[in-house]
Amino acid sequence: MSQFCPVYPKPKKNRSSILSMFFGKRRSWLDGLFERSYHMKMGEIHLPGLDLYMVNEPKLVRQVLVDEANDFPKHIMLGKALKPLLGESIFTTNGLQWQRQRSMMDQSFEATRLKVVFPLMQAAALAMQQRMDTLPDGGPYDVDMEMTHVTADIIFRTILSIPLEGEDARAIFHAFTRFQELAPKLVTPVIFRLPRWLSPWFTKRKSAQAACQIRSVLERFIRPRFDAFHADKSPYTCPVKNEAQDILASLLAATDPETGQGFSFDELVDQVAMLFLAGHETSASSLSWSLYLLANSPDIQERMHAEVAGVLGTDSATEPTFSDLRSMELTRNVFRETLRLYPPVGFFARQTVKTEQMRDKIVPEHASVIISPWLIHRHRELWQNPDIFDPDRYHTASAKESLKCAYLPFSLGPRVCMGASFALQEANLILATLVRRYRFEALPGYSPIPVGRLTIRSENGVNLVVHKRG
Ligand code: HEM
Repeated sequence: MSQFCPVYPKPKKNRSSILSMFFGKRRSWLDGLFERSYHMKMGEIHLPGLDLYMVNEPKLVRQVLVDEANDFPKHIMLGKALKPLLGESIFTTNGLQWQRQRSMMDQSFEATRLKVVFPLMQAAALAMQQRMDTLPDGGPYDVDMEMTHVTADIIFRTILSIPLEGEDARAIFHAFTRFQELAPKLVTPVIFRLPRWLSPWFTKRKSAQAACQIRSVLERFIRPRFDAFHADKSPYTCPVKNEAQDILASLLAATDPETGQGFSFDELVDQVAMLFLAGHETSASSLSWSLYLLANSPDIQERMHAEVAGVLGTDSATEPTFSDLRSMELTRNVFRETLRLYPPVGFFARQTVKTEQMRDKIVPEHASVIISPWLIHRHRELWQNPDIFDPDRYHTASAKESLKCAYLPFSLGPRVCMGASFALQEANLILATLVRRYRFEALPGYSPIPVGRLTIRSENGVNLVVHKRG
């Protein structure tokens, strides 16, 4: 068993006030957690205008996310805060509007499409390897930047058939980075109903500008394909040969099962913007943490290298195939364990629509209900040695049991992540490509700092020593 205990903000002994998260030296909500948060089944916080319940107990988590999901819709303030970028996208809508969008989007994400977009992922993985081959051997390197680049590239290629190279792609990439830095400053205060001055007007203005820039570039890419798709005699000739296979092609073709109508232009831009945000930020976060964990567990990294080289051979020109990835069990467990320790989406925000009984508590209408995979995955009563990185744990009966009731990096129930299979395939491809070709080592005197923003990222990058294998 590995003994490596990866970095996480040490919980405080006593409960601290939620307001204090925004003052003093706290970096993010992760720093506001206290020891009992990792033991309790359910907690509550009350402030003027705020009733907030934190739910950890598996039975209650299922009640909220699965069994009575309609009674716990997504928090309305989340949609308001993300609206400038995501419009009315599937990530934030509720009720009939969400149902219609979900049934249309499901058509685009059906399992067979994964095979179709796989060559587009392979091309991005190869481009990543070419970039990394130019690095000086043994130099310290911020792998977080590269993981952000490659996952954004994968999203560009699989949705629009465009590699992340041109000026427009670069503009979107930087505007997204700005939006991700600013959005948590807007989202967290509204969910926790903190005073408005905590999200100052210039943050709102700057994030609205970034959102506007992203949407105008996306609109330019989507418009000709939307018009061509809906025109009777299409004069549009596609400049990219893969285009017919990308996700935009399937979104254009998706129809509402009841009316037979497709997405309007604005709806399409909303969904594509959401896929960019949900699809690359999460994957980049988890891949960077995987490399940090491997760099600090050399024995596991060597076993993983042997597994990958055994399946693919050591010649890095041979690209992994779709079925190769299925036979790499340790690689899969390393990623599974990363998602347990550093779940990219640190909490899910829901809201009650009526009074609910939960344990011995009466939860009022309009209360905020928070479910945190971060807490559940490190819960002292739900996992053994919860803070230790141990990908082999999944062979034990105890971890198999925990997986069933206390593991939810992609959420559960009807709002489960639509891109889970896409993300797992992408992660296994990137990790196999990297571990076959390079060896990652911890950088002496350096440690990443986990912060909970839109996703759980490191505040100071993920700096590692990277050696090319001989
Ligand atoms: C490691 C990578 C990923 C993780 C951990 C992840 C996690 C999640 C989680 C936890 C949710 C639910 C959030 C909530 O209920 O509040 C979600 C929703 C969603 N994710 Fe992912 N995601 C990942 C990658 C992706 C990718 C690659 C895509 C698409 C290409 C994607 C598309 C979506 C969509 C469309 C939703 C909204 C589903 C709905 O509300 O019906 N995700 N994701």
